[in-house]
Amino acid sequence: MFEAEQICPYTGLRSFTEEESLYFKGREEDIDQATEQLQRNKFLMLTGASGDGKSSLIYAGIIPNARAGFLKSKYTQWCVADFRPERTPFHNLCKSIARQLDIANPYTVQAELNHGFSAIIDLYRNSKRNLDTNSMAWQMADDAGKAALKREAANLIILVDQFEEFFTNPENYHKGVPSGDANLVLNLLLETARIALEEDLPIYIVFTMRSDYIGQCAAFRGLPEYIGFSQFFVPRLNRTQLQQVIEEPAILSGNRITRRLTERLIHDLTEGVDQLPILQHALNQIWHAADNGKEEMDLIHYAMVGGMSVNELP
Ligand SMILES: Nc1ncnc2c1ncn2[C@@H]1O[C@H](COP(=O)(O)OP(=O)(O)OP(=O)(O)O)[C@@H](O)[C@H]1O
Ligand SMILES: [Mg+2]
Repeated sequence: MFEAEQICPYTGLRSFTEEESLYFKGREEDIDQATEQLQRNKFLMLTGASGDGKSSLIYAGIIPNARAGFLKSKYTQWCVADFRPERTPFHNLCKSIARQLDIANPYTVQAELNHGFSAIIDLYRNSKRNLDTNSMAWQMADDAGKAALKREAANLIILVDQFEEFFTNPENYHKGVPSGDANLVLNLLLETARIALEEDLPIYIVFTMRSDYIGQCAAFRGLPEYIGFSQFFVPRLNRTQLQQVIEEPAILSGNRITRRLTERLIHDLTEGVDQLPILQHALNQIWHAADNGKEEMDLIHYAMVGGMSVNELP
């Protein structure tokens, strides 16, 4: 007999993914507020301090919430064209749009998007994500065909994660001036957001960015106005939320953790940057030290991974 493989409910240093949303805790109110804001404005700049959970909030909070129907939109299905700017933001945008709109050749997208800032809207409208009941395809289809067309229709979220890469990579930003590609991407995305709002299209634009870079955003024409229009600052978790973040994933995956370990972990979190990654890293190691969660996680395991001295153990 093989034992079922244990899955660690703590992510360690990396962000939460959509698949891990079950274990994503402590953000219920933020998810509701940010979802409501995105629904209303079709645009959202998620900012906050380094490591405070911006990427996790969108991937494991807002997107699953939208898929569950809490972001009211035209269709029940969602597609998410997400990318990081890296050193090639235009290429990355095109690749992601091509994949989500099911366009086989990303170079077609590249050519289209060079034609005008409203080109993303046109591509969406002509794609199978947009259900056009005036089209020949729809009118000629039988019931099964119509059902198939409906299954392919979807709302679109375009997500730029780690937006600060527009400023940290010299290919994108040099001596205070954005590159041509960076400007093109921003013009395309802001124009898409503008038309989506004006014409009530099911298209949503989200950026996540470290708040340290907010000042640099003025380098992009129109961006400060959009940030002023719809920004959500991801707050630090309070004590009660930290307790949920520590204990609830364990309970959900059938593991146990002592209250005294929870309290010690919260006590040891120093104010300052990168609290959450440090906590997640410690929890991930503790879980492994506790025989992959088979033992009740306690101070002894915290000592085993170097979080506290063995002399301090009760
Ligand atoms: N609600 C949460 N509960 C527990 N851990 C969390 C939560 N949100 C984020 N984390 C953890 O904090 C760390 C940083 O998360 P994430 O990458 O989402 O933050 P970020 O704000 O996007 O960081 P960066 O500034 O590097 O982009 C990760 O280890 C992640 O697992
Ligand atoms: Mg991030």
